[in-house]
Amino acid sequence: MALFKLLVNGRNYQADVDPDTPLLWVLRDHFGLVGTKYGCGIAQCGACTVHLNGEAIRSCVLPVSAVGKSKVTTIEGLSSDGTHPVQLAWDKVDVPQCGYCQAGQIMTAAALLKRNPKPTQSEIDETMTGNLCRCGTYHRIREAVKLAAEHPVSGSSKTPKTK
Ligand code: FES
Ligand code: FES
Repeated sequence: MALFKLLVNGRNYQADVDPDTPLLWVLRDHFGLVGTKYGCGIAQCGACTVHLNGEAIRSCVLPVSAVGKSKVTTIEGLSSDGTHPVQLAWDKVDVPQCGYCQAGQIMTAAALLKRNPKPTQSEIDETMTGNLCRCGTYHRIREAVKLAAEHPVSGSSKTPKTK
């Protein structure tokens, strides 16, 4: 065991864990940040995607000892009030079905738009292809990423769901 100090969503956290513990489990079990999900555990599904210094990474295979002073952002920290352009586009298009994969999808899309604000359709497809969705929401995911890139929804147009 060793003490690891992590900067997550702009806050300092610490955990006394085995250095090989995947970041995912430190986030979920030690810090209570359960928005990041466990899917496959072998970097194949994208459910566990978070940002490390703004880059999308698979937290299920990243040992906590490799995080160091990098800034970790989880779905809880993407925006303080759910008004990141990708979150607003997701809401507008009504993307989720069961929702399980969605935090990972949103984190992957947000990282893409940060490094490439106007991605082509094939760049969107290429980036999002690593995030699996058992419910098959791929069409709406694509639509929402395009909306966030081309016509970002403004915060004021977010309306409460009535269903
Ligand atoms: S749980 Fe990390 S990629 Fe599937
Ligand atoms: S919305 Fe159900 S797994 Fe993607």
